[in-house]
Amino acid sequence: MKTAELYVNKRYVIGDISPMMYSSFIEHLGRAVYTGIYQPGHPAADADGFRTDTADAIRDLRVPMIRYPGGNFVSCYDWKDGIGPKEQRPRRLEYAWSSIETNQFGIDEFCRWARKTGVEPMIAVNLGTGSILDAGHLVEYCNHPSGTYWSDLRAKNGSPEPYRVKYWCLGNEMEGSWQAGHLSAEDYTKKALEAAKIMRWVDPDIKLIACGSSYEMLPTYLEWDRIMLDQLLNQVDYLSTHSYTMNAGQGTTNFLAAYKALDTHIKNTRRVIDYVKARKNSDKELGICLDEWNVWNFQDIELKSLDDLLSLTTFKITSAGRWEVAPPILQEKYSLLDALTVGGLAISLLKNADSVKIACLAQLVNVIAPITTAPDGGILRQATYYPFRTVSELGHGAVLDTRVTAPTYACQFGETPIVEPVAVLNDETGELNVFVLNCDPDSDVRLTLTGEETYRLARHQALYGNDLTAINTFSQPDRVTMRELPVDGGLAATLPRMSWSALTYRKA
Ligand code: AHR
Repeated sequence: MKTAELYVNKRYVIGDISPMMYSSFIEHLGRAVYTGIYQPGHPAADADGFRTDTADAIRDLRVPMIRYPGGNFVSCYDWKDGIGPKEQRPRRLEYAWSSIETNQFGIDEFCRWARKTGVEPMIAVNLGTGSILDAGHLVEYCNHPSGTYWSDLRAKNGSPEPYRVKYWCLGNEMEGSWQAGHLSAEDYTKKALEAAKIMRWVDPDIKLIACGSSYEMLPTYLEWDRIMLDQLLNQVDYLSTHSYTMNAGQGTTNFLAAYKALDTHIKNTRRVIDYVKARKNSDKELGICLDEWNVWNFQDIELKSLDDLLSLTTFKITSAGRWEVAPPILQEKYSLLDALTVGGLAISLLKNADSVKIACLAQLVNVIAPITTAPDGGILRQATYYPFRTVSELGHGAVLDTRVTAPTYACQFGETPIVEPVAVLNDETGELNVFVLNCDPDSDVRLTLTGEETYRLARHQALYGNDLTAINTFSQPDRVTMRELPVDGGLAATLPRMSWSALTYRKA
């Protein structure tokens, strides 16, 4: 068996984990909203038509905040379509995903659902085809107490109390030509600045998230952020970036090592923030908002070349026709291998806890999601549900600056230690939790904690198995799940080959 050592010293801290680290995302896309979280008439639906089985699974995931309503969807969305009597709401072509939007679920339903589910809403405004005044009106509708057209309309629509939405995204992926109303960095800067101004005039307490760049393949990558932050650094609170990881035939160990690419992605975003701050001699705290991250294998998207990504007109979704209501699209099936990779990505998020202040797993229900719902049945927890739930349960406190000594392997990122750990110290519970990926395809690894010898291993949960392609299905829902492994009360744990583990240490 191979061996490795993790050196931990409680005095060396990377940063505290933000309570918003385990947020998520629900877009009006496919079956995320309709038949996902909202399905009047379903046996598990409550009086509002919200599926209580889905809400229970979300609570179980301990998701603190959910971004809504998009995504690419938001850039064609008029939020006013989704308020008022349901029978009068317009049925529209939804251009971003070639679907039909019935508008039976809108901002009031989302805020009500969020309150019932116990999550904080995070709302994106349309800065593609929408106006800056529409953005201001939406803040007024949600947050102004009463006595004006928009706030009284909210009361008339059933919510006299304001929603007090605190987190607002200034558009979505505005750097991409696939985005409706895509803008150059200069034009986005002007529009976002004016929208921010109006939105803050309405409610000075809101937190604003500016669109940064997300896609390394774009020529504007990071240059977009530099141009935009030059004007917006002091006007916004967070910089958004997105990162999806795809298994595109690069080989198992290369795919498992995707945490390294996410680490670089986050660090590059931080570098551009620091560059702008350095030029301005500013000590402004600007958190990174990684408001879309996940494994996404494009199982139903036909891409002839990467150029197709730049234009949705040549971007074919094979799982449904055009112009359907709640089409079953982007319903990725996640394997054990995908779940291990998600676990690795979560380790990179934690290791960057000093910069990442909000992170949203994209998405949450049915669409590239850990939770699947059957329209005529119950729910299924996909393989990726489990590493996410484990970190959202145990990953609270301070991330420690550790050192690892381990054999290495060669992957597309160079010589890489076979284990990738992160240690989190929780002062409240007194626990030291170590999340660790073992990328070795052949060998278990005996990992020993050093430096804090007063701790003892109290619990070892692991995700592993011989069949990396295994998935959970409605007939076999527990094929991929966390499993308990024996502990001997010492400092070491045996990490199965190709596994993701959560090791809980307690003071002896
Ligand atoms: O999450 C799916 C899509 O991915 C979102 O709509 C968009 O923001 C991103 O490109």
